Amino acid sequence: MNQAVLENKLLQLATGHQLAAALYFVTVNKIPDCLKDGPRTAEDVAAAVGLPARSVYRLLRAMTTSGIFRLQDGRFSLTEISDLLRTDHARSQRSKILLAASDLDVWSRLGEAVELEDAIPDVKKDWYLEWGRDEDPIMIFDKAMRSYYFDAPAPLLGIYDFDSINTLVDIAGGDGGHLIEILKAHPDMKGILYEQPETARRAQGYISEAGLSGRCVCVAGDFFKPESIPGDGDAYMMRNIMHCWADEPCRQILTNIAARMPDTARILVMEQKLPSSDEQLNDCVEHWGVTPAWWDMLMLLWFGGAERTEDEFKTLYEAAGLKLTNVLEGRLGTVVYEGAKASAI
Ligand SMILES: C[S@@+](CC[C@H](N)C(=O)[O-])C[C@H]1O[C@@H](n2cnc3c(N)ncnc32)[C@H](O)[C@@H]1O
Repeated sequence: MNQAVLENKLLQLATGHQLAAALYFVTVNKIPDCLKDGPRTAEDVAAAVGLPARSVYRLLRAMTTSGIFRLQDGRFSLTEISDLLRTDHARSQRSKILLAASDLDVWSRLGEAVELEDAIPDVKKDWYLEWGRDEDPIMIFDKAMRSYYFDAPAPLLGIYDFDSINTLVDIAGGDGGHLIEILKAHPDMKGILYEQPETARRAQGYISEAGLSGRCVCVAGDFFKPESIPGDGDAYMMRNIMHCWADEPCRQILTNIAARMPDTARILVMEQKLPSSDEQLNDCVEHWGVTPAWWDMLMLLWFGGAERTEDEFKTLYEAAGLKLTNVLEGRLGTVVYEGAKASAI
């Protein structure tokens, strides 16, 4: 690459936070929604969202030079990319971008996590609760989580053999979206969604809406308290949970599930694939805009958690009295690490 191009590229990378902040601002203020019916002047947009016209003009003009908006004859319009930020777009990315771009201040403290090899102390994990205005932060959080899986709401359906499971327990199953998809595809299967009380209540609503309350119950609990974990599952699924925790809490969670599950039951940990070899790392497919290695950094900053390789899961399983019995790759980079009680094999 030409030297000047290289230097400009470097500066662009180093100032990525400018665009992230701008994207967050226009998204939270629903500026893409104002442009959905066609081009408008900055004055029009500013009046619609209650902001000063001149600075709205300057912001949209700057974003135009990054391909986010188009400016023609003094009027701004959406580009393909900002169209995705509309609330009513069939594949709206609005909630995901609100969640992803609103933690700028946390990244400015990256050095603390690197030095501590742990989460940034006293970091606000529920920062999104501050969105305020007319937004329900919890709804935005749920929508953001679901939008990661638009292309495959249950990435291991048709790949993992769910047929032999009579009762599937989804440990920390969030709003139930994942379990609902699997139950819809397996009409004889029963489901148990296990979650923290408030989330379990929310999930119950989605399960009823999906017409599945006859064969899916929600159980409230805390996976650090083994007695609250259901004891009657054939398989215990956990998607995107382990990466939120450091090794020791992961070992505790797995140990607690193993203590409660029947001897014949399986544990199904579903996470992103983090390759073991340096060569494969460069070929990692970005399913969600950033590589699994960047997700790993995000997990470190927020929770002291980590993305893990297959070997690291094997070690975690062994520490919890489990044995890794199978590893299968699904869509969207999702891998299932299947395990069973070591004592029962
Ligand atoms: C990243 S979300 C994953 C949700 C879901 N499995 C999915 O893939 O969409 C992590 C979930 O863990 C739940 N959680 C956190 N701590 C928990 C605890 N101590 N006991 C049970 N669930 C917990 C949270 O409520 C949250 O829904």
